[in-house]
Amino acid sequence: MTTPKRYLVTSALPYANGLKHIGHLAGAYIPADIYVRYLKAQLRDVVFVCGSDEHGTAIPIQAMKEGTTAQAIIDKYHPIIEQNFKDLGIHFDIYHRTSSPLHHETAQEFFTVLNNNGDLEIKTSEQYFDEATQTFLADRFIKGTCPNCSYDNAFGDQCEKCGKSLSPDELINPVSTLSGNVPIKKETSHWYLPLNKHEDFLREWVLKEHKNDWRANVVGQVKSWVDGGLQPRAVTRDLDWGIQVPVKDAAGKVLYVWFDAPIGYISATKQWALNHGKDWKPYWYENDTQLVHFIGKDNIVFHAIIFPVMLKLHGNVLPANVPSNEFMNLEGDKMSTSRGWSIEMDDYINDWIKKENGGESMADVLRYYLTAIAPETKDSEFTWKGFQDANNSELVSVLGNYVNRTFVLMHKLCNGKVPPFHNDLIDDLDKQLIQDIANTKLKVETLLEGYKFREAQFEVIDLARKANQYMQKKEPWILAKYLPESPSNQHLIDNALHLCLQLTANLAILINPFLPFTAKKMLHMMKVVEKLLEWQNAGRVDLLKVGYSLREPQLLFRKIEDEEIANQLEKLKIKKTKVEENKSVEIEKEATVVLKPEIVFDDFGKLDLRIGTITAAEKVEKADKLLKLEVDLGFEKRTIVSGIAMHFKPEELVGQQVTVVCNLAPRKMRGIESNGMILLAEDKSGKLHFLQTNGIIDAGSTVS
Ligand code: MF3
Ligand code: ZN
Repeated sequence: MTTPKRYLVTSALPYANGLKHIGHLAGAYIPADIYVRYLKAQLRDVVFVCGSDEHGTAIPIQAMKEGTTAQAIIDKYHPIIEQNFKDLGIHFDIYHRTSSPLHHETAQEFFTVLNNNGDLEIKTSEQYFDEATQTFLADRFIKGTCPNCSYDNAFGDQCEKCGKSLSPDELINPVSTLSGNVPIKKETSHWYLPLNKHEDFLREWVLKEHKNDWRANVVGQVKSWVDGGLQPRAVTRDLDWGIQVPVKDAAGKVLYVWFDAPIGYISATKQWALNHGKDWKPYWYENDTQLVHFIGKDNIVFHAIIFPVMLKLHGNVLPANVPSNEFMNLEGDKMSTSRGWSIEMDDYINDWIKKENGGESMADVLRYYLTAIAPETKDSEFTWKGFQDANNSELVSVLGNYVNRTFVLMHKLCNGKVPPFHNDLIDDLDKQLIQDIANTKLKVETLLEGYKFREAQFEVIDLARKANQYMQKKEPWILAKYLPESPSNQHLIDNALHLCLQLTANLAILINPFLPFTAKKMLHMMKVVEKLLEWQNAGRVDLLKVGYSLREPQLLFRKIEDEEIANQLEKLKIKKTKVEENKSVEIEKEATVVLKPEIVFDDFGKLDLRIGTITAAEKVEKADKLLKLEVDLGFEKRTIVSGIAMHFKPEELVGQQVTVVCNLAPRKMRGIESNGMILLAEDKSGKLHFLQTNGIIDAGSTVS
């Protein structure tokens, strides 16, 4: 395979609607960053783009939750997420925003090209519409009773109680969350991308061409979508948050978020080019570009089916690969911010990086562990104990320990300078080590180019393990003991430490894509510039000049104590409990918060409300629920039939003061004419209560 001329690497654009957790980080960001750092060390032409996904219903819904506007939400979370990535060493060339004018233009142009070429279809369908707010309702804006578990606050796309995914049509008694009204069905037209027309292309391109070089989970998902029969997908929505559909008479319609967001990769590239005086076009139009999308598995259909079809129609390059990870669980359960079972990047940064001097190395510890357990082929599991073990028994004991010993011995036995290598004394152990260095370089680059990050990182640590064994066998500290009798031992010491130091320089190069902060520290200790980290230097054993003096060692990693781990586990539990408590409060609030549509004062003024006293009450024959009441209004007595027989015994009602709607038109129930209605309060459990008047108000008093 020839080396591509340029690379465009993307990480899924996170929704700017809240903090992102370490599962996200492990899925689409760390592997992409490793890949890009490696390519850059290879001096390849590469641009790494990402940014905030700022459209879709996720944003206005978060705004409702926080009692603010959609704009305020994206302005709040965009900079936090951007900074979190920086603190963890994820180095994008640009972190853009889909709310930017450049992106709006780019997405509209893209749509227009497809629309003008006749690649989209317009179709009409019936959708829920809220008459009070005059809006079509996105699935998330409809609530009702779950057909599966009868929970009465299920959303139009999912029931949060039983987890079943729903369509709004399945909800029993749907209401609009915007107004509380029952929505009506209304016709609306939308633009559709007819995926069904591209089945042959997808079969050929993914299922044949990339059958073996793409991950099995990605090919598998594409296959099941294609085999299941592709349907046209709507690419517009009736919503007031998003990018206007660039067509006359399409007011109130926006591009579907999954149409505009991936185009964000293109607009981000444009902005990067503007910032650096470059040309963005070759990255998206030339066939010798290698486009790679790093994503989590819930994004596969969009990046391996829908966006490629869009790119093909628009005349762009297609992705060379779409490395997608499976999910990372946390301490035995699914990771989820909304359920409170997650570690947010922000939390990790505050607890581990910002708290201590030189805390950046703790960013590398997280990067290391997340890569060591990367869910590349199947779901994996983050545990705090595993995190501690990876740090203490691999980073501290293997990598950190090796580098530290090498430096300490070099200062002690070689005057702090790189000792010479005496070729005449070379032995099999030396030869083997030199071979191991060269082999590791080749293995790591093959693995990285094949998107196998977990194994690649393992090989680097394995080289450090071998180096420790080499040093253990060479025992320069023992050789030093016998120096007075055997001065020639110095040459053996020199050789061992010479190779150990060259190996340290190699470790810096090889570990750099994975642990960039650590590589920097090592450069500092070796007193060399960043140029050393160029990949072409790996495999060489002449990187550090003989006689060059090196700095004192710094510890690369520190031990993590049991207590720190216990604290994190405790914190996780507390967070979950808190979120659960808040949720139940929220659900209670939501259940009562649905208001009827607004009325004007005159509407209210039409009601004639008065205080009356119940003077008699009896059951209505053959009607379980009804009671016939005599009510004294002072100026007259009325008969009122009320559906409260299940709640009160007739005898306990006599003497009770009630509020009566006096001017309600008479109505016959079971042959009895009812002249008015009494007001009662109904609590959450459905129990009825009288509005307390203490029985001291004159009958006939008005209520207003
Ligand atoms: N915001 C989406 C998510 O978090 C990902 C968008 S990726 C893009 O699932 F390609 F659309 F940008
Ligand atoms: Zn349910």
